[in-house]
Amino acid sequence: FANAAQASRLIAEEIAALIRDKADKKQKAVLGLATGSSPLGVYKELIRMHKEEGLSFQNVITFNLDEYYPMQPTSLQSYVRFMKENLFDEIDIPPDNVHIPDGTLPRDKVAEFCAEYERLITDAGGLDLQILGIGRTGHIGFNEPGSPLDSSTRLVTLDYVTRTDAASDFFGQENVPRKAITMGIGAIMKSKRCILMAWGENKARIVQKAIEGELSEQVPATYLQQHPNTLYVLEESASTELS
Ligand code: F6R
Repeated sequence: FANAAQASRLIAEEIAALIRDKADKKQKAVLGLATGSSPLGVYKELIRMHKEEGLSFQNVITFNLDEYYPMQPTSLQSYVRFMKENLFDEIDIPPDNVHIPDGTLPRDKVAEFCAEYERLITDAGGLDLQILGIGRTGHIGFNEPGSPLDSSTRLVTLDYVTRTDAASDFFGQENVPRKAITMGIGAIMKSKRCILMAWGENKARIVQKAIEGELSEQVPATYLQQHPNTLYVLEESASTELS
């Protein structure tokens, strides 16, 4: 796509079609959501569709990929806050249908929470669609280099590059949490469909590795090459290194 706005509209249309199709069948649409700059245009378009076209989210269940740890939901950098401000507060999704990893848990409760998170996804019938951004390390969710294919939802240590990229949000790298809770690669790979978005020239190198590179634990996004139903949606500027 020439620009992210056009690309985002295509993705929002696919999500809307999924939601409407499930509603027609009296079923729930189970969405895996991401934060960061990449999905912002998609959320903006979904909000527009809700307000102008009556798209309802009453039958939608969501699971976010990740949250910093530790993190209070009211903090400026919290992904709970991000999702409220950029999507949930503007649509009619029932609050109980929203799931985001909890950055407030004591350390000894995290593993149990993560196992329960995966159980909830399974009980909901599995993810129908997972949308993903890609980090410059090749992470999806916060599955940094070294994450195994069968990794489960868990507490992880953020890569130095990821913390550098988050520095401006936290007013300095020293303030970026060292840890995060992330949905595992295993759970992402079980999604019936994945859409990976990448905009901007600073993603071009990692996009090339993710799509054309050898499958490697060092670039977790390469795992998606083995996913049977993944769409990569790229802005031209992010696709310049592809052969
Ligand atoms: C966010 C997430 C991350 C981001 C990635 C790209 O929930 O899981 O993997 O998608 O770091 O971030 P942006 O979109 O800000 O370039």
